[in-house]
Amino acid sequence: MQFGEHFIDELKARLRPSDVIGKHVKLKRQGREFAALSPFSNEKTASFFVNDEKGFYHCFSSGKHGDIISFLMEVEGLSFPEAVERLAIQAGMELPAADPKAEARAASNKKTISIIEQAQVFFEKCLRRDMGGDARAYLKGRGLTGEDCTRFGIGFAPDSFTALVDELSQAGASIDRMVEAGLVIRPDDERENKRPWDRFRNRIMFPITDARGRLIAFGGRAMEAGAKAKYLNSPETSVFHKSQILYRYPNARKALHTPGNGARGLIVAEGYMDVIALARAGFNHACAPLGTALTEDQLALLWRAGPEPILCFDGDKAGLRAAFRSVERALPLVRPGQTLRFALLSDGQDPDDLIRDKGPDAMKRVLEKSIPLVDMLWRREIEKEHLDTPEAKAGLKNRIFTALREISDEGVRDQYKTALLGRFDKEFGRPKWTPGGYDKKWGGKQKPSKSQEQKMQPEAQQMARERRVIGAVLEWPELLESVDQTLFGLKFISPGCENLQNALLSYWQDTIAVDKRALIAHIEEAGLANTIKPFVRERNLIIAAMGGVDAALTDRTVKWLAEARKLMGREDAHGARDETRGRLADTIRSDKRDALQRLARALGPEKSP
Ligand code: UTP
Ligand code: MN
Repeated sequence: MQFGEHFIDELKARLRPSDVIGKHVKLKRQGREFAALSPFSNEKTASFFVNDEKGFYHCFSSGKHGDIISFLMEVEGLSFPEAVERLAIQAGMELPAADPKAEARAASNKKTISIIEQAQVFFEKCLRRDMGGDARAYLKGRGLTGEDCTRFGIGFAPDSFTALVDELSQAGASIDRMVEAGLVIRPDDERENKRPWDRFRNRIMFPITDARGRLIAFGGRAMEAGAKAKYLNSPETSVFHKSQILYRYPNARKALHTPGNGARGLIVAEGYMDVIALARAGFNHACAPLGTALTEDQLALLWRAGPEPILCFDGDKAGLRAAFRSVERALPLVRPGQTLRFALLSDGQDPDDLIRDKGPDAMKRVLEKSIPLVDMLWRREIEKEHLDTPEAKAGLKNRIFTALREISDEGVRDQYKTALLGRFDKEFGRPKWTPGGYDKKWGGKQKPSKSQEQKMQPEAQQMARERRVIGAVLEWPELLESVDQTLFGLKFISPGCENLQNALLSYWQDTIAVDKRALIAHIEEAGLANTIKPFVRERNLIIAAMGGVDAALTDRTVKWLAEARKLMGREDAHGARDETRGRLADTIRSDKRDALQRLARALGPEKSP
């Protein structure tokens, strides 16, 4: 549903933040504000504040900040329109007329969900009937009581092709709707007298809800050992998108925010039975993806609940591989206060096995021993090869840089760089360089001189070189005429260089005659006004490095290309230069040549360039 700006303003004007937020947290007046214990973290002193005059809340412990709408989205996991709808009711405001298509979709989804709910009732009933005898015995064998089954909504799909179709038909549901709900399979060719049949047969059924707790799908575990698929999930439907769902997410999130739960994030296991075993053992804040590696959407859900989810993996080879995949997925998304931890289990055990064999305390110890993302990344890199030669160590360092480039948050990247390079130095022994020179131990302070630069750590040297390469183009954009392909093929590690490289590329794409002022305006428009500041500060150094103010363009070009080649020399070790961008520069260049030729033809032969 679409809401106008006016509607939202009116809504915010009618509701006092302290009234809306006061329904979820206990507010205490403190001067012009209200204070409370943060609903986003577990704390003993109040660091959550609500200000009615300014219309916002601020949480110092989690850094979260927003208005009444974002508060409901955060705390109840609502979407924007859902939060607005809820508040409109509270404010006694009529909702604006909805988009009829969206309305129809929502109505249809509601019907689909209600069929799934009916199926849930049926499955639970079947588990308790005679036909559920084997299923009950199986569950008992896995340590689940009848109460557990009720608590987790566990059911049983009978060993029949029509039990559910018949049940739902009797209740008045159409076959189309059952298919839409993912419960029934329609034969490809109905002419052969084949009737639609139940998707889930002779399986233990686990209900799956979305982030708001609506029942949208099932996971079914086979009873017989030789079944084709041990677990069968509902297919993708209009209400179930597997990649966006975590099993028992709403319950886990609620548990995490229950006073007394000291955890900093959700526990993520691999399977349904693990989540259930964890919850039974008192770890109610556990959830799981549905048989696939974590997606970006699932990571976002995890971070919406808490800053440091703990992912559990088996410590064997396959488990580690899965853990490394999560590292890869998470790096571009980590931010201050948004990271991951990893808990590694041993002996091919999953949390369910561990809790059954050794009890909840053993699980607790595994969680306590969980390691932060940065350590997992380190482990991934050092386990790739034996590090017994200088070449292998250099390779490790290159991989560290490659990984660092994956982190998009500059602040976090900086911290990772310090941590990982520090660790590299510690483990592989290397003199420490500080802005004043090397450690005393390694020959004492040196006079700042040209040789200083040669002794910089290679990465510091590389970053200085990167700034020169970008800075020179900012100073003399006419360099682009001859260096464009090289420039756009380079990969940078210094903060801001890649952004500027992109801005230069987009500027170059639209320009025939370069102009410094237009370039600076373009960069400022791209929001990089602050990014170029360090380059302006280093301007004199950059000019000097390129042969001074009076150097000829060809000299500058030669000097620039020499610097770039050195970067590429390192690049070759770091991984190939960026071929896509190099090729893009080629295309731009040939487009430009065509445009110039057209221009020349239009101007007549004597003005031909
Ligand atoms: P596992 O094979 O690790 O099983 O699958 P498990 O959870 O330990 O199951 P139990 O203990 O034998 O009952 C982990 C998760 O992968 C998905 C399911 O979500 C399962 O919980 N999965 C597994 C499938 O979707 N299909 C399969 O055939 C197997
Ligand atoms: Mn298991």
